[in-house]
Amino acid sequence: MTKGLAELAERLRAAERVTALTGAGVSAASGVPTFRGADGLWRHFRATDLATPDAFAKDPDLVWEWYGWRRETIARCQPNAAHDVLATWTRRRSSWRVVTQNVDDLHLRAGTRDLVRLHGSIWELSCSTPCAASPRRWRDERVPLPDSPPRCVLCGAVARPAVVWFGESLDGDVLQEAYAATECDVFLTIGTSALVYPAAGLVDAARLYGAFTAEINLEATPASASVDLTFHAPAEIVLAELETLLP
Ligand code: OAD
Repeated sequence: MTKGLAELAERLRAAERVTALTGAGVSAASGVPTFRGADGLWRHFRATDLATPDAFAKDPDLVWEWYGWRRETIARCQPNAAHDVLATWTRRRSSWRVVTQNVDDLHLRAGTRDLVRLHGSIWELSCSTPCAASPRRWRDERVPLPDSPPRCVLCGAVARPAVVWFGESLDGDVLQEAYAATECDVFLTIGTSALVYPAAGLVDAARLYGAFTAEINLEATPASASVDLTFHAPAEIVLAELETLLP
């Protein structure tokens, strides 16, 4: 058994409220590329060319080409054991929550309840204007999209992926929900490089609240030194093993 797992299982068994913050590493076993690390997206592409409001204003076709490719990649992926275990937890206990930075919606496809999506969803679009008539966002799971760039369903202006780009603020209500979820007994930070704020600050908020904290990641991150337990192993394996120890 992975070292420390029995202790974490004991903490989880005793916990009323549990929150898991997830990042790209949770979807790695599904085949969704991560952003950092040896083969991460930001090794091959420049975030400033593809994931900023300026990049989109300059070249919406290029940005949509990249998002179209990512949508195609993600459409071929299935949730893995990490998504499944976390989804099971949220269905078993309504006070166990998942907060994710991932835009792939694999947590939703696994059946996670009350998911908090900090960075939006790659399957949702919004008007780039935004026009007064448009709903804030709409869902379109077609792969490929019939038009690239796609258009606002109401005003016809260019639509954008409803995701948070570098230099943009997170949705205030979503961030509030995430911070509310840090008021918990056990906080897990899973498969995230813990570099991008405000998400990376959630584990500190949980610790200040008094939560027991643990990290599951292939490698050490800036969060490793301050959590109570670290597991340097794949999330899909640690979580599956953990689930066998819970009632
Ligand atoms: P990163 O790509 O920065 O980090 C992925 C983390 O997952 C790394 O620390 C890996 O070591 C770890 N990892 C990889 N495979 C794993 C596995 N099977 N089990 C456990 N850990 C594994 O992804 P995020 O931290 O999610 O933002 O990135 C945060 C944000 O930066 C993203 O949401 C995105 C990106 O730029 C926006 O697009 C706004």
